[in-house]
Amino acid sequence: MRSHYCGDLNESHIGQQIELYGWAHRRRDHGGVIFIDLRDRNGIAQIVFDPDTVEAFAQAERVRSEFVLKITGLVRARPEGTTNDDMPTGQVEVLGKNLEVLNASETPPFPLDGYTDVGEDVRLNYRYLDLRRPEMQEKLILRSKITSSIRNSLDQQGFLDIETPILTRATPEGARDYLVPSRTHPGSFFALPQSPQLFKQLLMVSGIDRYYQVAKCFRDEDLRADRQPEFTQIDIEASFIEEDEVMSITEKMVRQLFTQVMDVDLGDFPKIPYSEAMSRYGSDKPDLRNPMELVDVDDLMRQVEFKVFNGPANDPEGRVAALRVPGGAKLSRKDIDVYTKYVSIYGARGLAYIKVNKLEDGLEGLQSPILKFIPDEIVTQLIERTEVEDGDLIFFGADSAKIVNEALGQLRVKLGIELELLTKEWAPCWVVDFPMFEKNNDGNWTSLHHPFTAPTCSPEELVKDPGAALSQAYDVVLNGTELGGGSIRIHQAEMQNAVFEVLAIDDEEAQDKFGFLLDALKYGCPPHGGLAIGLDRLVMLMTGASSIREVIAFPKTQTAACVLTSAPSPVEDKQLKELNVRVRKPVEADKPKD
Ligand code: AMO
Ligand code: AMP
Repeated sequence: MRSHYCGDLNESHIGQQIELYGWAHRRRDHGGVIFIDLRDRNGIAQIVFDPDTVEAFAQAERVRSEFVLKITGLVRARPEGTTNDDMPTGQVEVLGKNLEVLNASETPPFPLDGYTDVGEDVRLNYRYLDLRRPEMQEKLILRSKITSSIRNSLDQQGFLDIETPILTRATPEGARDYLVPSRTHPGSFFALPQSPQLFKQLLMVSGIDRYYQVAKCFRDEDLRADRQPEFTQIDIEASFIEEDEVMSITEKMVRQLFTQVMDVDLGDFPKIPYSEAMSRYGSDKPDLRNPMELVDVDDLMRQVEFKVFNGPANDPEGRVAALRVPGGAKLSRKDIDVYTKYVSIYGARGLAYIKVNKLEDGLEGLQSPILKFIPDEIVTQLIERTEVEDGDLIFFGADSAKIVNEALGQLRVKLGIELELLTKEWAPCWVVDFPMFEKNNDGNWTSLHHPFTAPTCSPEELVKDPGAALSQAYDVVLNGTELGGGSIRIHQAEMQNAVFEVLAIDDEEAQDKFGFLLDALKYGCPPHGGLAIGLDRLVMLMTGASSIREVIAFPKTQTAACVLTSAPSPVEDKQLKELNVRVRKPVEADKPKD
């Protein structure tokens, strides 16, 4: 049995006989003395073998990287001049008395004893080795601490941990479903849940009152750094509750988590209405570490002759906005070209700018290709409104509001990072008062959240003017990432039917897809609401990882595959037959474009 973890050794153990188990992180031969850095989950300890302990020394000679070892020995202070202050165990070493090789190892496909830039495919192929690396272990350890803190907080607040099915029916959260064919019901399929949404609502009808689950969700959607086909939610639902209460339960949980695990005080989470978030930050997940804001200048640009500006300024769906960039006057022509290209990804057809060199010199102190198109008095008002100072730059976006918000919103994020303008390390907020619906490309209404979200108006008002309806939904945002979202739900069939009507889901379809929910609403369904936090995103932010793949033990690749197990994989004909499934050979045109 181990007496200590390698990483826990310190000066208090000097003089003790100990027994360690772990992997040979590194072995060095130093003029007759052999050093082995032994690594386990908690860290690394230095073991010294000298030729006097003949047997152990002989064993130490055959040790190679990643051999699995059992070592007994005596903890002693490192000789003067050989201590290592960068290493938690760097004041001590272990004089090895006995060494047993429990298992040998082939040379790993990439070194584990120092940072090397290994391709992600190789890392995922050998994930079990990749996860041996101390920086990966740290992330998994932190993830475990995070779920434990969250469970404690929810247990304390009276929530019950209840599991919901994985083999189920489609749950609409806006992605494609993963389907599982049923053997016992030929031709029928289960869907894996995109979230436990419908079941947690049914649990409220059951009188469970407060539910939570660390729940696996499945969504077949285009992948990005912060999306996986299989991910985990901290899923919460409660009865007899209003928006503010759900938000305060969540805040309490997240604040407690940050103090416990990181010793960080997140403070209060400001609440920002959706329309304000779009107008000030061009985004419904604003990064409030970034001090820059979009400023409306439509009214100033209505009269100017510059068509690029006066068109959108006079269009009810258009927007002309300015973005003041502190210190931006130092940007070169080339930098501005790069940013112009960047905003074109979001559909912007240009990126007008004014450099503010010296305000004292009036118009002479400004530099811009568009000044000649804008009357002096308008320029003066622009300068006042954007509150620019010497050395700043103003960027402009003019187009449909959608394009301007996206282009300047993304540019704001990029500039904040590249020009090092962020003012703090953590900035949480709530975004509230979302619209109920948005128009999709075919001109039909779709839910901005999901169709079970309650509006703030009556069913009649909702059907009359869907575009004006606001929802009782809220998103929690941290440092510009949407961490989670939720809403107060519809608990009366009449309202649920009104929403289905707006979404053009007819009675038959509603009954077929959600009949069980509509029925449940008829049997004394309490008012209820909840929220789900993306655990992987939370851990990504807390560990500073660049992608959620870094904080998931066995993630999928960008093409939604597991290279380690070679999944998905073809199956035997016999199995297909049992499932009553016939596979059509995919032709080029069928291949997904993702
Ligand atoms: P929503 O769809 O907003 O809400 O999801 C909640 C949170 O889950 C995380 N998330 C993801 N994380 C990784 N990969 C993905 N593909 C992925 N998709 C979503 C995000 C997101 O904020 N049932 C509702 C919640 C509710 O209303 O209570 C829901 O699922 O962090
Ligand atoms: P042009 O007259 O097209 O040469 O544009 C003059 C300036 O306006 C250039 O700096 C362009 O980058 C900028 N510009 C053009 N279209 C837009 C637009 N839709 N939004 C913001 N700036 C634009």
